[in-house]
Amino acid sequence: MTENNAAITLKPLISQVEIKQRVRELAKEISRDYAGANRDLVVVGILKGAWIFLADLVRELTVPAKIDFMTVSSYGASTKSLGVVKIILDLKCSIAGKDVLVVEDIIDTGLTLKYIIENLSLRHPRSLKLCVLLDKPARRQVKIEPDYRGFVVPDCFVVGYGVDFAERFRHLPYIGYIEEIKE
Ligand code: IMP
Ligand code: MG
Repeated sequence: MTENNAAITLKPLISQVEIKQRVRELAKEISRDYAGANRDLVVVGILKGAWIFLADLVRELTVPAKIDFMTVSSYGASTKSLGVVKIILDLKCSIAGKDVLVVEDIIDTGLTLKYIIENLSLRHPRSLKLCVLLDKPARRQVKIEPDYRGFVVPDCFVVGYGVDFAERFRHLPYIGYIEEIKE
């Protein structure tokens, strides 16, 4: 287990300006796809990683949306997926008959989102789509494709803009990757 105060070297990967620009593009695409009086959009953020992305994304939407959150457990303080997903905090609202857009920070093995999507689909939403900020396709273990993706990233451990390493670095306004950890 890595100590919380280990010396970590970060390298920048995606700048604040690039993120802002891409989030705006995604919001435009989503707004276009969900336009229309018969749509009832519920944006479901997966905590904690998606909170900053979701906050920026929904403020760029030009269609009405409700926001709800779920917390699931995935890696804990390690950098390896355990493949075990547990709902720690569930949605407050029913999504039956709604147009649900799941917003997540990063898709890696895909195990977490596969579980979430399967779980939410049992609740009979009218539609169910997936928006991720970061996609790490190299490590995928299950077949799952995001409907909207911000950036494809290489197989490295990324942090910042909501994404953490053992709860550190979520507050960074840019996305970096961990180059070195000195215990
Ligand atoms: P998956 O189940 O392997 O797709 O992992 C999904 C979750 O693992 C994400 O929601 C993140 O919380 C976490 N995760 C995966 N890759 C990274 C990374 O590079 N940095 C930080 N968290 C990650
Ligand atoms: Mg996450």
